[in-house]
Amino acid sequence: MRTIIEPFRIKSVEPIHFTTREQRDRILRDAHFNPFQIAARDVLIDLLTDSGTSAMSSSQWAGIMLGDESYAGSSSFFRFEEAVKDITGLPLVIPTHQGRAAEKIIFSILGGQGKYFLSNTLFDTTRANIEFSGAEGIDLVCEEGKHPGVPAPFKGNMDTVALRREIERIGAENIPMVIMTITNNSGGGQPVSMENIRTTRNICTEFGIPLFIDACRFAENAWFIKCREEGYAEKSVPEIAREMFSHSDGCTMSAKKDAFANIGGFLAMHDPELALRCRNLLIITEGFPTYGGLAGRDLEAIAIGLYEVMDENYLRYRIRTTEYLTTKLIDAGVPVMQPAGGHAVYLDAAAFLPQIPVDEYPGQALVCELYLEGGIRSVEIGSLMFGKYDLNGKLIPARLELVRLAIPRRVYTQSHIDYVSEVIIEVFRKKEGIKGLHITEEAPMLRHFTARLEPKDNS
Ligand SMILES: Cc1ncc(COP(=O)(O)O)c(C=O)c1O
Repeated sequence: MRTIIEPFRIKSVEPIHFTTREQRDRILRDAHFNPFQIAARDVLIDLLTDSGTSAMSSSQWAGIMLGDESYAGSSSFFRFEEAVKDITGLPLVIPTHQGRAAEKIIFSILGGQGKYFLSNTLFDTTRANIEFSGAEGIDLVCEEGKHPGVPAPFKGNMDTVALRREIERIGAENIPMVIMTITNNSGGGQPVSMENIRTTRNICTEFGIPLFIDACRFAENAWFIKCREEGYAEKSVPEIAREMFSHSDGCTMSAKKDAFANIGGFLAMHDPELALRCRNLLIITEGFPTYGGLAGRDLEAIAIGLYEVMDENYLRYRIRTTEYLTTKLIDAGVPVMQPAGGHAVYLDAAAFLPQIPVDEYPGQALVCELYLEGGIRSVEIGSLMFGKYDLNGKLIPARLELVRLAIPRRVYTQSHIDYVSEVIIEVFRKKEGIKGLHITEEAPMLRHFTARLEPKDNS
């Protein structure tokens, strides 16, 4: 059959709340044109993030009941540890309450002034934790990854020529780690090929630099490798995942993505000395090493979810969802990142709203318009999220102005996705009338979460 169906039945439902355009207009103003500030109840289709928003399976809910809440040595921890070791091959496993907690720990230890972390593309919390330590992060995505409209199979790849050049320029002694983000979230949810992971590994080995994987979407990346990379079609997803991790010295993970958990994360690695330092810090910030900021029930849900996410029927449906929405938008002439990413569809806001200059945040203007038109919440991944100021207070814009529509796992059905496409196409039809925004208040770091904005005309 042609139709790839949702590989599950729905056992429990959650009503969604409808609002009128007039209500949304008021809500958006009250939220200072920042949908992070909108109450979830006022959102019809919430595509803000795929993080922690998954529907858990009946097995995971059953696991929740089995959670062992012992402070030390809980049996849930051992099940969790076994699952992570089995899937990644990394022997030392440290639970954290989410991905950024793992990042905070590792970069507090390895970061600091004068240090550089090189990556295909650092996610915003990863970059923020690196910079908070005093170190610097450098993104080295491949050339194809810089052009949203140009399709290529592995646009998340590291530019390995640039990697070698940067290592030689900075000096390996100043680079505590190279980080491969798979899939490449900020670069459009685009995958990284096994060949690219292998080449990156070889360069790291040559210079004696550890390679860590930001593994949030490891299963989606493995599926893309299976479908797109020569020599992998016959391999199973667990085999491919194991091979990806075999090229690394460790990983950070947010279990809120490819583990179907609503909360959780971990660090895993080979180096016992580094693991000891991480655990020492973990005890101060997260908790005892066998729970690390999580309840036993969360550890159970993660252990189960890590296997469920590698199911090929699930991954086929998952990747088909973003492809389906992307194709509908391309057919309507909407500028989107091509090909479809794993967990999200990315609109190219710069091409969508060419009349809005980067310092009037076209991505954020589009995010607001999608909410106003159809109650859809999305997120800007552009100059509001990544922009910096130069010494004269002039905006240094982000490389791309994207709007991300992240699809929660196992939550929305095909008709929800059809509705989303209709709203986007309607906004595209009215695009000439959309105006830019300016910031009235912002925090020094991760400003997009709390920034307040106003339409440009009001200034
Ligand atoms: C690639 C990547 N790394 C790290 C994180 C941070 O994970 P968490 O939100 O669990 O702190 C995210 C979250 O979206 C992510 O997408």
